[in-house]
Amino acid sequence: MKIRGSKISGGNWRTLGLPSIFLLCLFFFLAGFFGSSLFSQQEIPNNLIPVKKIEFEALPLEESVEEIPFQILSWNPRALYFPNFATAEQCEGIIKMAKAHLRPSSLALRKGETAESTKEIRTSSGTFISSSEDKTGILDQIEEKIAKATMIPKNYGEAFNVLRYEIGQRYDSHYDAFNPAEYGPQKSQRVASFLLYLSDVEEGGETMFPYENGENMDSSYDFRKCIGLKVKPRRGDGLLFYSLFPNGTINPTSLHGSCPVIKGEKWVATKWIRDQGLDEDY
Ligand SMILES: *[C@@H]1O[C@H](CO)[C@@H](O)[C@H](O)[C@H]1NC(C)=O
Repeated sequence: MKIRGSKISGGNWRTLGLPSIFLLCLFFFLAGFFGSSLFSQQEIPNNLIPVKKIEFEALPLEESVEEIPFQILSWNPRALYFPNFATAEQCEGIIKMAKAHLRPSSLALRKGETAESTKEIRTSSGTFISSSEDKTGILDQIEEKIAKATMIPKNYGEAFNVLRYEIGQRYDSHYDAFNPAEYGPQKSQRVASFLLYLSDVEEGGETMFPYENGENMDSSYDFRKCIGLKVKPRRGDGLLFYSLFPNGTINPTSLHGSCPVIKGEKWVATKWIRDQGLDEDY
């Protein structure tokens, strides 16, 4: 007596019948489909979705079309990521011009604070460089591109603050915007910040947003703790986030910091963008 289907190894497919063959095909199709999607997910670097290039017909308004690809990282705070915003040569050039002028980074002080009482909050070294001081023209090119990406004119930006974080150095979570209740009345306010990562960091040194999407906002958050949305620095990539809501008030979820560098060295050029133009167009 023969059991049906036991002849598969014998190669007699006719005994299988049509429904079995259909099921087998379905099985291999699904296995292939899910298998390949699993495989491709492993290739995404830094948990970022690869940016797709979109072909389009340019309007005849400008002589050339420049693509500035970006990815939305978060809506709360509003944060965008710009892969390959600057070239490796531009990054190297900025580091070179900043290196000779590094000093310990300082903080804007609230009432009652002193440089001594706050010195552990921000332990990097840095320097301010305006594009007019840069004879190589690199900072001018970067500034131009930031203006295009944000659609905020160049003269709304402060000079670049180029920072170096060595192993163990960090910046506790803070706001870039100045709350008048803490800092007194302000002539103008910081609307947004653009961070250009000038180096890869082997380990640590992420930019963190601990309150992303309203997480961790209870009063127990320790401002040194490295939690929430973390962005790993990658040379040439840019990070833009807005400190203010569209109505001009400070967005509490724009709180951010720099996790301590564990391995390697972190270099970043920061541009703070204001709500009013500065007279000097640098
Ligand atoms: C500004 O906008 C935020 C977010 O929509 C809202 O929570 C806040 O109440 C607004 N503040 C004012 C003064 O309109």
